[in-house]
Amino acid sequence: MKAVVVYYSRFGHTAKVAEMLAQELGAEVRRIEETKPRGFMSMGWGAITNARFGIKPMDLDLHDCDTVVLCAPIWASRPVCPARTFLRDARLEGRQVNVLVTCGGGDYRRGPGEERRGHRRHRQGRHRHG
Ligand SMILES: Cc1cc2nc3c(=O)[nH]c(=O)nc-3n(C[C@H](O)[C@H](O)[C@H](O)COP(=O)(O)O)c2cc1C
Repeated sequence: MKAVVVYYSRFGHTAKVAEMLAQELGAEVRRIEETKPRGFMSMGWGAITNARFGIKPMDLDLHDCDTVVLCAPIWASRPVCPARTFLRDARLEGRQVNVLVTCGGGDYRRGPGEERRGHRRHRQGRHRHG
């Protein structure tokens, strides 16, 4: 059995998670790269409108690979456009595909008494992954 971890990361958080996961699984790791760098507004708007951002060809041979883990951030509540392009174009039939997303996280507050502590936790855990 061979596994490969494929990831997209704009700011490095998903890259760290993907690298750690690949090490844990003993898997190869490949990065999805956009053909054209985008600004913040374009990234968000692309996600909202389901745009398919172009990605560079990858050195990825799946013929003896049975598990693919795709790691991708969330933009505007959706998996990022370059990861969706990968899912559209890659020949993944017959393989187990797992998806791991990273996001900015939500509100950690559980009750009025925890508001302050929860806020501090939120600031520290801004890039909680899971
Ligand atoms: C354009 C944009 C939109 C985002 N939208 C969301 C969102 O809707 N929900 C959320 O929890 N995080 C959102 N985030 C935060 C990212 O998902 C989070 O920071 C992620 O870990 C970044 O991964 P990266 O460092 O690998 O690029 C957004 C980030 C960007 C840049």
